[in-house]
Amino acid sequence: MPKAPQADAIVLFGGAGDLALRMLFPSLYFLDADGFLPEGFRIVAAARAEIEPEAFQAMVRDAVTERASPQALDNDVWDRFAQRLDYRAVDATKADRLSAITEALGEAKAPIFYLALSPSLYVGVCEALAGAGLITPQSRIVLEKPIGRDLESSRGINGALAQVFEEEQVFRIDHYLGKETVQNLIALRFANTLFEPLWNNLTIDHVQITVAETEGVGDRWPYYDEHGALRDMVQNHVLQLLCLVAMEPPSDMEAESLRNEKVKVLRSLRPFTRQDVAQASVRGQYVAGVAQGQSAAAYEEERGQASETETFVALRVDIDNWRWAGVPFFLRTGKRLPERRTQIAIQFKGVPHSIFGGQAEGDLVANRLVIDLQPDEDIELLLMNKAPGISQGGMRLQSLPLSLSLLRAYSGPNARRRIAYERLILDVILGNSALFVRRDEVEQAWRWVDGVAEAWAEAGMAPKPYAAGSWGPAGAFALIERAGRAWYD
Ligand code: BG6
Repeated sequence: MPKAPQADAIVLFGGAGDLALRMLFPSLYFLDADGFLPEGFRIVAAARAEIEPEAFQAMVRDAVTERASPQALDNDVWDRFAQRLDYRAVDATKADRLSAITEALGEAKAPIFYLALSPSLYVGVCEALAGAGLITPQSRIVLEKPIGRDLESSRGINGALAQVFEEEQVFRIDHYLGKETVQNLIALRFANTLFEPLWNNLTIDHVQITVAETEGVGDRWPYYDEHGALRDMVQNHVLQLLCLVAMEPPSDMEAESLRNEKVKVLRSLRPFTRQDVAQASVRGQYVAGVAQGQSAAAYEEERGQASETETFVALRVDIDNWRWAGVPFFLRTGKRLPERRTQIAIQFKGVPHSIFGGQAEGDLVANRLVIDLQPDEDIELLLMNKAPGISQGGMRLQSLPLSLSLLRAYSGPNARRRIAYERLILDVILGNSALFVRRDEVEQAWRWVDGVAEAWAEAGMAPKPYAAGSWGPAGAFALIERAGRAWYD
């Protein structure tokens, strides 16, 4: 495939909204500071509100300053950045109003249209862009999740997009793929010889993926109540992590190679049935409790009425392929859990035979690779050692971590934790889709997630309460204990 030309402008629809101000403008500013924005690159923000250009610049400047803190804004970079900025008040779903965007784009030939908007507007905006003649073979469209609420609605959105854009022009964001440590998973697996020969059901006992958040749903409930943890987190972020752990080595780092391998994993996920769903899954919803030392309200209190939406999910997932047959993947994610932690733990099997009798044998634990993605970026390989000292009972063994703290390894005066969106926006500018979700990938994930939701409905499984600040309902512990394992906390 010929290399796509660099984009020469970005139009941010929803340009005065929360995502744009918290993430997108700061990311663009940092890209500019590092010299990644092409010369003459224009940034056009579009939203319905009438905002004076100076007031808009001040809004963006405040947002960028806050994000850059404790570092101060670099005035030279800001001046250059501010030159690129433009604001237009438009209703983006009306083709006849989009002449303001055409005008703001001027000579730009390869604009990016970034929809930082409610997904209910995606189809309308795409149609309006086409109606206004703004779409050319060089333009690109960026969409945030959720792409639909199930397979059918996701097909509806993707189908409408396909009417006006080629798939290569569509960039579906899963912001987890922009995180440094998530990409590091690819490096860890495929830039080292050490792990690959062991990365299978001969040596690995099971895998745990935890995405725990301390925050509650709060005032996001109008969106969240429609989706719940399964659709909000598992369908996208958690399954993406699972794919990167479980996929076969891609032939190269090209977008299609990587995405083909992820789709193969999604296609191998064993569907849930009404018969096994109660044994292999847990739904939970937080009730009032103490989180982070403070009393926290119940989800239903935030919601203002009774709700059957889950704020916690735990699943035992089986991947039916040669590499993973017989290796359970335990996934859990939830709101109002005791700590913020995104972690992947690969539990290896024990040694086939222990030569250490007596006391030492009891100390012999199997190796484990723990990849911490958030809040700290750390990789630890737990290895057995001889504990120092002598005793009459023979050798004492002890498990110790071989630890790679990315924070320590890469800390320095100029080290800055990048926003996931910086990598992703730069990739859209360059036309590189490797870290974006392809249509068949998003739809395959929905197909499997729909199966879970249907099995819940058929089995009449309502969410079980758990106290805010706890690790979810008791059933989450039973789920993993039934398989003879325990969560690694
Ligand atoms: C979003 C979900 O996609 O990811 C939120 O909609 C969730 O509910 C967030 O809080 C978590 O992202 P991060 O980067 O804070 O782990």
